[in-house]
Amino acid sequence: MCGIVGYIGDRQAAPVLLDGLEKLEYRGYDSAGVAVADGNGNITIVRAKGRLSSLSEKTDGGKALKGCCGIGHTRWATHGEPSECNAHPHFNDEQTLAAVHNGIIENYTELKQKLLRRGYNFYSQTDTEVATKLVDYYYKKHKDPVKAIANFILRVKGSYALAVLFKELPGRIYAVRKDSPMIVGVCGNDAFIASDVPAILKYTKSVYYTGNAEIVCLSVGTACFFNLDGETIDKSPVEIKWSAEAAEKGGYEHFMLKEMHEQPEVVKDTLAAYLFGSEIKFPNTSLDEEMLGKIGSIVVVACGSAYHAGLAAQYVIENFARLPVRVELASEFRYRAPVAYKNCLVVAISQSGETADTLAALREAKRLGMRTLAIVNVVGSSIAREADDVLYTRAGPEIAVATTKAYSAQLIVGYLLAIKLAAVRGTMTKERKDELVAELLLIPDKIRSILLNKENIQRFASEAANKKNVFFIGRGVDYAVSVEGSLKLKEISYIHSEAYAAGELKHGTISLIEDGTLVLGIMMQRRLLEKTLSNLVETKSRGAFVAALTYEGNDKADPDADVKLVVPPTDDMFAASLAVIPLQLFAYYLSVLKGNDVDKPRNLAKSVTVE
Ligand code: AGP
Ligand code: GLU
Repeated sequence: MCGIVGYIGDRQAAPVLLDGLEKLEYRGYDSAGVAVADGNGNITIVRAKGRLSSLSEKTDGGKALKGCCGIGHTRWATHGEPSECNAHPHFNDEQTLAAVHNGIIENYTELKQKLLRRGYNFYSQTDTEVATKLVDYYYKKHKDPVKAIANFILRVKGSYALAVLFKELPGRIYAVRKDSPMIVGVCGNDAFIASDVPAILKYTKSVYYTGNAEIVCLSVGTACFFNLDGETIDKSPVEIKWSAEAAEKGGYEHFMLKEMHEQPEVVKDTLAAYLFGSEIKFPNTSLDEEMLGKIGSIVVVACGSAYHAGLAAQYVIENFARLPVRVELASEFRYRAPVAYKNCLVVAISQSGETADTLAALREAKRLGMRTLAIVNVVGSSIAREADDVLYTRAGPEIAVATTKAYSAQLIVGYLLAIKLAAVRGTMTKERKDELVAELLLIPDKIRSILLNKENIQRFASEAANKKNVFFIGRGVDYAVSVEGSLKLKEISYIHSEAYAAGELKHGTISLIEDGTLVLGIMMQRRLLEKTLSNLVETKSRGAFVAALTYEGNDKADPDADVKLVVPPTDDMFAASLAVIPLQLFAYYLSVLKGNDVDKPRNLAKSVTVE
């Protein structure tokens, strides 16, 4: 959550900072600010509540702030309401040090008491102001920025990416992170820090990933890294493959629309990464046949849509590989004293690779001595680095808060893992395996054909625009994708919806069905068509407006459904990959119809780095 950008070089800093912050808008924020040091080291701070455009107006697009060194921030409030006063950067009392922070300082109350006793004043309700003044306290004590930050690291509990300007040290930016993301880029005389790659992609593709508790010092054209003892650390940059255009809208009205249309390519690229002819391999990992053969069970930990991808994988892995799979919300797993089963593989799924709960669940699994695998989109992210093995999804940068293409890529990795496990465990014939691989290769074109006919969904969305409640029902994999469809709708259209396993509806929820309630039944599981249809009819008899989402050629729902939406047929186990596309489009068009901010829905952040 929130975004940090820092710049030092030959250019005027403020416009660069504002531009970088705009690229990080997707992370969610409620206020923004910049601090710029002029040539004499005088630091000026400007902050604004609300959108970046307010900050831009206040500073004439950054032009009003002179100086080539600065830090910028978009805040997603955790401590203290969103307001100009709570927005970052924060100053020390003498205005000789300014800092921005992403994350939460858990022991800020105790630290604030200590600082109050030392004569510090506080003007905001934030934990960040405490962090700022703590660095100031240690800087005054040690007269050394690296020592000051090292002491800060030792004293503070919680998560942070922190960037600091010192008046006495013009031409430098100091930064540190723990469990909140921060990258560093250097190109010619320009040097940057940022919460994520898109902020600096137009200047450089060469990026340093900073580790936890590594202190960075940026100056013109250089970045130096120090450990807690103040010793320098050697680091090599990683080359980013994404293009700057990949993080732009490319003619689409919204990032979400663009990202939905990228799904055929993303699925193709993810398949290409792990399919060698009809063989599935996981290069650069320890997931060889011997290791995979030893796995006795799987626990998936994830949040939100990544959790939903895990739910689908659960059905597929159990069906193909006959291996017990349990899917858990990472936020529950981390605190419920999980039992470490022998030979259990813990799979953490995450687009960003920075989700605090998923990262904590992964660490808990490691602490318990369990083997871990990450399915992650962002290369070099914390989850990717900490897991024993990583399978990257090849979705490219995902900007819209509501995930689409990363979810689709996660499904594909889940299928490949399921088929590979089945092959290793001998639970699938070679013919069946080849047939499934051939079907996987058809998925990109099938997704493309659904996207080509998106007007049908648009029409359906306009019919549903006045609905106050929507129910999604399905069985098996259809249930897994229902949950994702419902989340998409809630996130961006703000329409209340529930996803229910079709058979569970009559155990209570059916009492909510009234005249005109929209019930969308997913009917992709051939074996369960009649069952789900009966549940749909049960709701229709109670006044529901019934829509059926099924595959072409299935006319079972025809007499009963008020609306029928179709996708091409596929293997039942891969149904989520096709069924999710109309559900994403449905949520998208409703959001547009309601005039919502599709890419940046209210109250949400792209990367949830707080618990
Ligand atoms: C998806 O549309 C959501 N914005 C959200 O549920 C997301 O999937 C969740 O926060 C997990 O994020 P991650 O994949 O980056 O870990
Ligand atoms: N905890 C800090 C605050 O509320 C930082 C929040 C953020 O990450 O934006 O100001």
